[in-house]
Amino acid sequence: MSDNKVVLNYDGKSFEYPIIDSTIGDRGIDISKLRDQTGLITLDLGYKNTGATLSDITYLDGDNGELYYRGYPIEQIAEKSNFTEVMYLLLHGELPTSDQFQSFQKGINKYNFVADEMKKILDVFPRSAHPMGVLSSLTSALTAFNPRAVDVNSKEDLDHAAEMMIAKFSHLCAWTYRKKLGLPINHGDNSLNYVENFYKMCFRRPNEEFHLDPIVVGALDKLLILHADHEQNCSTSTVRMVGSAHTGLFASVSAGISALWGPLHGGANQAVIEMLELIEQDGGDVAKYVEKAKNKDDNFRLMGFGHRVYKNFDPRATIIKKAADDILNALGIEDKALDIAMQLERVALEDEYFVSRKLYPNVDFYSGIIYRALGIPTEMFTVMFALGRLPGWISQWKEMRLHNDPIGRPRQVYQGAQKRDYVDFSAR
Ligand code: SDX
Repeated sequence: MSDNKVVLNYDGKSFEYPIIDSTIGDRGIDISKLRDQTGLITLDLGYKNTGATLSDITYLDGDNGELYYRGYPIEQIAEKSNFTEVMYLLLHGELPTSDQFQSFQKGINKYNFVADEMKKILDVFPRSAHPMGVLSSLTSALTAFNPRAVDVNSKEDLDHAAEMMIAKFSHLCAWTYRKKLGLPINHGDNSLNYVENFYKMCFRRPNEEFHLDPIVVGALDKLLILHADHEQNCSTSTVRMVGSAHTGLFASVSAGISALWGPLHGGANQAVIEMLELIEQDGGDVAKYVEKAKNKDDNFRLMGFGHRVYKNFDPRATIIKKAADDILNALGIEDKALDIAMQLERVALEDEYFVSRKLYPNVDFYSGIIYRALGIPTEMFTVMFALGRLPGWISQWKEMRLHNDPIGRPRQVYQGAQKRDYVDFSAR
């Protein structure tokens, strides 16, 4: 039986701190009284060893490369579920009955449109604007048109805000795609399911009959499921942090979009394709780029490789790698980038530098190859990640509010100037 407390000896005294038990995985030392009792705080750059909250939603086993949404293994969810059901599962904690599923779908369909004035905001952006910047701005602007979804406290208001956000967000994501291509925007079609509706809003041409390609819809559904939640990652922690100040849901998600944009986080899926294209243009010399990634004097990194938690294969990457192969074959597409990615993976995983640091392909390594095969432009890849992650952000935000988590406000170890008096200008 493991201990249920830790003892800290400091300044000739002993202090005990309780250990908080988990269902599975890391147990946590509750240090909420540490500073009052010892005058000390902890320091943990990047929060590598720090739990920010208690959560029931998603569990990652980084050592064994496992991922569970509300206890269900990602492999089973990806194979058997669909994105709308996964959104329900993450938000409500259980797989929906048929009635619950229908009512959830109906709740989303009720808001399957966006206020026309929002289009005026979209119009002022240049077509060259990065879609993630457009998406973050539009998402925050949604607050102005949906005041009831701002400072929500009751579970009913939280669920109403969630369904509204889910419905409207897919429009905003599709609009950033249409903006990039200078195409007129489409509105929602309640005769379609969530992923079909998004696909149609993205790809329907004003002058052509629209056909839903089941291979494309299936691929999009699987990718969105695989991105749906990932416990306390950078963007989700941002959504929780902003929401802990009782900021509204749309503004909290807007902050999460900005965090996801970074190339070390969700922006990596765009950076991976740009890296693969660079290697291809440079004659496909994979070994050269593996050496560059190992060279500390070179700021080149193997994008799509490595992970803060997974020190084994990212289970999502394993699923996406197989799906990439299947979808390219089904669509009859040859993509040199996939061959280069597979070569890169093979060379890196035989190299001591990567093996010793437990650096494996992550979710972003292969996803861009599928997005590209589906006709999605590279700059839209992280928008696709954001659409997938939306239910995770909302579920984590909802949990933070229902748990009444305190406002997030970390401390610091100050290493600046000593206290000193102001010096008049004339005396400097
Ligand atoms: C996502 O947190 C999540 O769950 C995120 C995510 C989600 O679903 O929300 O999974 C999505 O963001 C996936 C990660 C996408 N980012 C990338 O692919 C960018 C490339 N990867 C790295 O920048 C890095 O691996 C991180 C940011 C993902 C993780 O960084 P850590 O945990 O801070 O690790 P580190 O930078 O301290 O690296 C440890 C060592 C270092 O070498 P040493 O100082 O020990 O000699 O590994 C090296 C690093 O230099 N290293 C790499 C590398 N990643 C780490 N070297 C070359 N190429 C890389 N990609």
